[in-house]
Amino acid sequence: MNDYLLEISGLDKHFGGLPALSQVSFRAARGQVTALIGPNGAGKTTLINCLSGVIRPDAGEILFDGVNLAGLATHRLARLGISRTFQNLRLFPRLSVLDNVLCGLTTQAGDSLVEALLRLPGLRHRERRLKLQALEALDTFGLADKADLPAGALPYGDKKRVEMARAFVSQPVLTLLDEPVAGLNPEETAQIAGLIRQMRLSGKTMVLVEHDMELVMGVSDRVVVLDGGCRIAAGSPEEVRVNPLVLEAYLGRMSLTA
Ligand SMILES: Nc1ncnc2c1ncn2[C@@H]1O[C@H](COP(=O)(O)OP(=O)(O)OP(=O)(O)O)[C@@H](O)[C@H]1O
Ligand SMILES: [Mg+2]
Repeated sequence: MNDYLLEISGLDKHFGGLPALSQVSFRAARGQVTALIGPNGAGKTTLINCLSGVIRPDAGEILFDGVNLAGLATHRLARLGISRTFQNLRLFPRLSVLDNVLCGLTTQAGDSLVEALLRLPGLRHRERRLKLQALEALDTFGLADKADLPAGALPYGDKKRVEMARAFVSQPVLTLLDEPVAGLNPEETAQIAGLIRQMRLSGKTMVLVEHDMELVMGVSDRVVVLDGGCRIAAGSPEEVRVNPLVLEAYLGRMSLTA
């Protein structure tokens, strides 16, 4: 078995003639956390969108376990075991926390989030097994006592964990996390860091997009740096932290020593 679950090469994406990704290549090893960092507009979310089938790259290859995913639709990727969270939360505010997490199981069956929502009433009665699985994920992510609350009523930090529980409930092979601690306080951030470490210990492979450098340095095995749609560096957290190209890209925009 290849050590690399994900091998991306020569990925290009333009929006109206402006390059968002230019010839991006990197690999993500099985069972590890690969962080993707870079200043605002670097192309991180665009890359996650290509990996999760939300957008189609213009060129390049995305090998997942040796299969080229480039251009496959979201539901096909979900079926292969790829899940994600969104930079801007995508929860159904009126649905309970439990039902939001259940959507993570029905998308696995090949639906989009909205299709998953439409199938929920039937599933809720039929599939005790799915419910137990969702309750287990709620427990792992510290939400067991909030299962019946509408997701919209939760504080922001809890909502971020509902997104994570939904992404992990299906036992995915690869999980893409787009800024899981954005907007969280230090205590909530530490809690998410603990959950990412816990998922890693249980063998999960993750690609983590984050601006919080303390989190990135604390949980990642390897860091890939994008700037202006190009990969400018890659290496261990220690290597990347002192790389002059990386420091220059961030200069005046944020501190890498945070
Ligand atoms: N759907 C879209 N249509 C047009 N331009 C887009 C679209 N999505 C992204 N872009 C552009 O592509 C570039 C990369 O954006 P992207 O959202 O991937 O950056 P990012 O690294 O995730 O930034 P941030 O850290 O702010 O989330 C930006 O210039 C952005 O304006
Ligand atoms: Mg982004």
